[in-house]
Amino acid sequence: MQPYWSADGCELYTGDVLEVLPGLPERSVQCAITSPPYWGLRDYGEEGQIGLEETPEKYIERMVEVFRGVRRVLRDDGTVWVNVGDGYAGHWGGDYAHTPWGQDRSPDETTVPNKETPDFKQHAFKPKDLLGIPWKLAFALRADGWYLRSAIVWAKGVSFCDSYSGSVMPESVNGWRWERCKTRTWPDADTDSNEELRRDRQNGRDCGEPEVEPCPGCEKCCDGHGPDGYVLRRGSWRPTSAHEYVFMLAKSARYFCDAEAVREPSGDPEGTAKRYESSFGGEKNEALNDSGLRQTKPEGERTWDGGRNPRDVWTIGTSGTSRAHYAAYPEALMKPILQAATPKHACGVCGAPWAPVVTEGGPDMDHRKKCGSDRSGGYHGEGKVGPTRGQSARDVKKNILRGMNTRRVERHHPTCEHDQKARPVVLDPFSGTATTGVAAVKQGCRHIGVDLSDEYNEMAKNRLREVITGVPEDEPEQCALWME
Ligand SMILES: C[S@@+](CC[C@H](N)C(=O)[O-])C[C@H]1O[C@@H](n2cnc3c(N)ncnc32)[C@H](O)[C@@H]1O
Ligand SMILES: [Zn+2]
Ligand SMILES: [Zn+2]
Repeated sequence: MQPYWSADGCELYTGDVLEVLPGLPERSVQCAITSPPYWGLRDYGEEGQIGLEETPEKYIERMVEVFRGVRRVLRDDGTVWVNVGDGYAGHWGGDYAHTPWGQDRSPDETTVPNKETPDFKQHAFKPKDLLGIPWKLAFALRADGWYLRSAIVWAKGVSFCDSYSGSVMPESVNGWRWERCKTRTWPDADTDSNEELRRDRQNGRDCGEPEVEPCPGCEKCCDGHGPDGYVLRRGSWRPTSAHEYVFMLAKSARYFCDAEAVREPSGDPEGTAKRYESSFGGEKNEALNDSGLRQTKPEGERTWDGGRNPRDVWTIGTSGTSRAHYAAYPEALMKPILQAATPKHACGVCGAPWAPVVTEGGPDMDHRKKCGSDRSGGYHGEGKVGPTRGQSARDVKKNILRGMNTRRVERHHPTCEHDQKARPVVLDPFSGTATTGVAAVKQGCRHIGVDLSDEYNEMAKNRLREVITGVPEDEPEQCALWME
């Protein structure tokens, strides 16, 4: 099997993931991180693409098959991280004519948008229903043998929070309201008949932009029910969708993760966010090194004392990309995953992860106090509910607080009998523009990417080459040489 491109331990393959995976050596990668095509959302314009199956069930069947292929390639102690978003039934017609629902819709009036059709009934949801695809997929993978360990909420935007709001795709989600009546005309359309016009637009024919003008008064807006000149619009409001899931799945019950590498400060939320900016080398990192707040993985041992385990809700903004791939996730989402899922070194002989050697220090007072300890770091509160069977709430809390000590990673040590270092390998079976790969390489890993599209692989290649060589993507290498 020939890769589309390979360099410095990285490989990109063009092809259907179901056909490419069997060609990769078994148990050869430390972890896989990916964002599969979502169901019914996008047409990447490639034969064999996943996501355009007729039903969610068929889509999930196929995904389970893909992840079986991933399981073979993954080490037994490896983890898989799957980013999936949800969708709503009823995206059809117009821009969505390519989706399964759009295809099912015949171009006559018998199936107009947002009317119930047998398809929707058969699948137990109606237009407008939230599909719940992420959890369907998670349960299907779990039933297929994966250990479902976490459902991380990637919060792209949040509400009711003073310090972060994020930015997400706006959606048109209005409620009921009286609105001034307007007339729309399509001066560029080939027809005056409303019926024909509607059909043309449903079929994606270009009818130009509508001209919108205030209604001079019609039976709808002057029927005496509402304010004069107003019509009632019954919108189906809901909050704007602003999160996706990242499911963490393990191949076996005893899987590798590096909790030390991903700890966050127990206080100061600003510091938490900053930590990830600085944890991949570069100037900021050096500045932090100088200030004593060092937190690196690739270049040195981290010396963050204490801190807490990260939570399963991550507020990470969607970073805009100029590349022609609309479904790329941000590099910032990859960083904590890579920190936790990849070892600092893999064994050069058998691939086993190296683990951090942890030295515990004194009490982490900051953390203890945050969690309700007294000034000495102990706990003397009384549990409200007395002990029935087992431990009292008070003892549980006491014990947890007692475990909150500063810790230091002195070095890393192999978990196998060999003593050879190699770079861990991160697989992305739907690699697109290789955001996973770029973050993985920056973190000192190798990357194997698979995508159906040559075009995306070309972009992926350029991005990877840039991080490998340090030559910016839009300045070809020859140019840089020529300038020297
Ligand atoms: C959500 S995108 C991944 C984006 C990627 N995380 C990035 O940052 O660019 C899903 C990708 O899956 C690819 N794809 C769809 N069907 C595929 C298949 N059967 N085999 C391999 N890749 C496929 C698409 O070309 C698309 O690039
Ligand atoms: Zn009117
Ligand atoms: Zn080994």
